Amino acid sequence: SSINQLIKNRGKGYFGTATDRGLLQREKNAAIINANFGQVTPENSMKWQSLNPSQGQYNWGDADYLVDFAQQNGKSIRGHTLVWHSQLPQWVANINNADTLRQVIRTHVSTVVGRYKGKIRAWVSLWSWLLDVPHEIYADICQDVVNEIFNEDGTLRSSVFSRLLGEEFVSIAFRAAREADPACRLYINDYNLDRSGASKVNLMRYYVDKWISEGVPIDGIGTQTHLSAGGGAAVQGALQQLATAAVTEVAITELDIANAPTSDYNAVVQGCLNTPKCYGITVWGISDKDSWRTGANPLLFDSNFNPKAAYNSIVTLLS
Ligand code: G3I
Repeated sequence: SSINQLIKNRGKGYFGTATDRGLLQREKNAAIINANFGQVTPENSMKWQSLNPSQGQYNWGDADYLVDFAQQNGKSIRGHTLVWHSQLPQWVANINNADTLRQVIRTHVSTVVGRYKGKIRAWVSLWSWLLDVPHEIYADICQDVVNEIFNEDGTLRSSVFSRLLGEEFVSIAFRAAREADPACRLYINDYNLDRSGASKVNLMRYYVDKWISEGVPIDGIGTQTHLSAGGGAAVQGALQQLATAAVTEVAITELDIANAPTSDYNAVVQGCLNTPKCYGITVWGISDKDSWRTGANPLLFDSNFNPKAAYNSIVTLLS
């Protein structure tokens, strides 16, 4: 059985992976995703720089390819990412007027979310109703609305967004996304949320609760989970702390672990199983040869696309 089916049997939504057109078109990536994973995240193609490098011009080719692949193969999608200080086109970084920036954020968010609205929901939900599997009704595209907006000390990271708008940009982005697709679950995503008691974990909870109480439509917290070897054991505690925020779900969104120890991967998967709000796990790529962490061999398939010990141990754990 695939790790996606196995984790669904345990009541979770998906086991997913990051990918994109270039990867899907070569070697065994598409075959492995089809056989093993239930959700895809665009590794780069839905970033602002990729979609909208100059004002008024959208390049949809790579993102559409990913969405078409998902639809044809029954995968759900986590859109990634609407508002991020990195991979941001220069024309946006150069904006120096708050009103202009408000409008630019709203336009970008509603353009992207609106384009993919309901793409997956239409047929997945039909089957869900017939089969009476309530979780699957929500197997729509969901979005990382804001990504990596905090410094380690809990202040907002300096970016054109925070400089011109302060924390208002968060509310603008989430409200525009909710309006564009009310069924899409909306996430705030960040890294270094891997240990309970870590400063960013506390801050994340504080801000998410504050913003939700102000009416900002945040549904979930994504924890990227880029770990060093030995980092797996602390993840469950962090997930459970994040889950005390007033969100409906949390998710592990970009998992990779240096040298992929089986004990670490098992601990992370077990941490999600033990956290009722943990909706799913996404690993950040298929093969070690394509990982952004060059030389770290942090993924579940080796450079020849063979499953590693960590993959097999997850199968055993979930079975
Ligand atoms: O597509 C261009 C290509 O045309 C050009 O020739 C080449 C030369 O550098 O660059 C290519 O773009 C690269 C792109 O990946 C696609 O391969 C960028 O340089 C490179 O910076 C980019 O890296 C991505 C990185 O985000 C960008 O910040 C990684 O693939 C991607 O794995 C990584 O993912 C991030 C998440 O979005 C957020 N969390 C952290 C995570 C890891 O950094």
